[in-house]
Amino acid sequence: MAAMSTVIAISGSLRKASFNSGLLRAAQDQFPERIEIAGIADFPLYNADVEAAKGVPAAVEALKDRIAAADGLLLATPEYNNGIPGVMKNAVDWLSRPPADIPKVFHGKPVAVIGATPGGFGTILAQSAWLPVLRTLRTQPWLEGRLMVSRAGEVFGKDGSLQDEKTTQALHDFVEDFLAFIEDA
Ligand code: FNR
Repeated sequence: MAAMSTVIAISGSLRKASFNSGLLRAAQDQFPERIEIAGIADFPLYNADVEAAKGVPAAVEALKDRIAAADGLLLATPEYNNGIPGVMKNAVDWLSRPPADIPKVFHGKPVAVIGATPGGFGTILAQSAWLPVLRTLRTQPWLEGRLMVSRAGEVFGKDGSLQDEKTTQALHDFVEDFLAFIEDA
């Protein structure tokens, strides 16, 4: 049997009780052998002078290698001011350096985007805002499933763990369908 496909999962929030990180932990609980959560907390702010002087930071190189080796990428994006939070965009900007490495890290990579918010619109605008980025990096965005978690305060516990049965099921279905897409890709 072929090796099982693996997905690198990145949350765009550094907050301990982050709803978006909570979504990824729940996905990992559901598919422990498929989902690997990767952190971006050690990424500095992108600075071309730093890159020119010292190259790409070790934490960035390590995650680039993990993404390159994985079969897919799952992004859990918060929404800030109806757009992508800077912390998360900064991480992907670093991951796209140097441009010569973009093909091995991103080209053709199946990518799915999910998100959670205490608000009522489920990160719909942040999720859409990722599309031009994913296109530019020539990934293969998976657009068949959608998971937009609204009213996150009622769906997650105080520690950021997913508590709601319906959302848990919706997450399971989303990830299962994404994994099936990857396996066909
Ligand atoms: C927000 N938040 C927010 N929520 C939303 O649905 N649409 C938005 O445009 C914004 N804008 C926004 C701007 C800024 C600067 C902050 C700090 C927050 C609220 C946001 O969804 C909330 O803080 C979530 O809890 C962030 O996700 P994590 O950290 O729980 O994963």
